[in-house]
Amino acid sequence: MPNIKTVLVTGQNGQLGQSLKSLVSSYPQYQFTFTTRDELDLACSQSINNYFEQNKFDLIINCAAYTAVDKAEEQQEIADAINHLAVKQLAEITQKNNSILIHISTDYVFDGTSFKPYIENDPINPQNIYGSTKLKGEQAIQKTACNAIIIRTSWVYSEYGNNFVKTMLRLGADRDQLNVIFDQIGSPTYAADLATSILTITDSLNNNQSDFQHDKVALYHFSNEGVCSWYDFAKAIFEQSNTQCEVFPIETKDYPTPAKRPQYSLLNKAKIKQQYQLIIPYWKDSLKVCLNKLQ
Ligand SMILES: NC(=O)c1ccc[n+]([C@@H]2O[C@H](COP(=O)([O-])OP(=O)(O)OC[C@H]3O[C@@H](n4cnc5c(N)ncnc54)[C@H](OP(=O)(O)O)[C@@H]3O)[C@@H](O)[C@H]2O)c1
Repeated sequence: MPNIKTVLVTGQNGQLGQSLKSLVSSYPQYQFTFTTRDELDLACSQSINNYFEQNKFDLIINCAAYTAVDKAEEQQEIADAINHLAVKQLAEITQKNNSILIHISTDYVFDGTSFKPYIENDPINPQNIYGSTKLKGEQAIQKTACNAIIIRTSWVYSEYGNNFVKTMLRLGADRDQLNVIFDQIGSPTYAADLATSILTITDSLNNNQSDFQHDKVALYHFSNEGVCSWYDFAKAIFEQSNTQCEVFPIETKDYPTPAKRPQYSLLNKAKIKQQYQLIIPYWKDSLKVCLNKLQ
């Protein structure tokens, strides 16, 4: 396995892609390449083949995904192409080149019927198309048995793109009150915290690569520390940003969406914290950092 020198990050304009991009100047030991869908279209296997015929990397960090959870219910084919078939192809390329793949997956592989934080080998049972295409992507990597790390994360937000925090700030500026679901429980993930951890993992792989001694594919969970409902998350956003908007808790049944979401998807992060000595911030502390950047 090569020492890591060249790193490809897909999905450069996404939340995680942009968060990584903002950090890489502190990692001059790596030569980073960031791609958009124009340069590397993950919905098109020919585009993937063409790109990797001309470009080789020691590490691929796959931040690109079809992430429109509700739209995926109607666009199963394209969601599957990006979240499953493209991931299979990336895994095969990783295997062929004896390189490393870090792939991001989701808490939506679980059905949400648990009562305690999900560990990596808890039974999976996705409840929507997005979750099932992401699970197929994970399974394709496992089958290929390339050197890979899969990190499942949840409720990602950042100063970039569209996310719950930015939606709440926009709605809160226009309205006096809002109804927000209180019976879906999980933990937010500030994309910058996940990006920082991915770069810590990259350094660690470069130093000892111990992750691949026993299992080719290592599976981890990552989110911020703590637990909340979307209602609590909205309350904290308004409190921390001094937005005068009252939040009322409602049940999921009163806010129907095309895609069913897990009611409980809190991720247990003990494994990734222990393996990489990570200190993960509490979700309200990271929210503060993000809001400061947005203001
Ligand atoms: N967002 C969440 O709440 C959440 C929760 C759990 C897990 N995750 C996972 O975390 C990872 C990062 O998510 P994120 O929030 O950063 O996602 P995001 O902001 O929606 O970004 C996704 C990126 O994928 C790119 N992309 C979409 N279709 C593509 C294609 N055909 N070819 C190449 N690139 C394509 C997008 O490009 P454009 O900019 O051109 O559209 C965008 O840059 C994903 O694997 C996601 O499944 C996210």
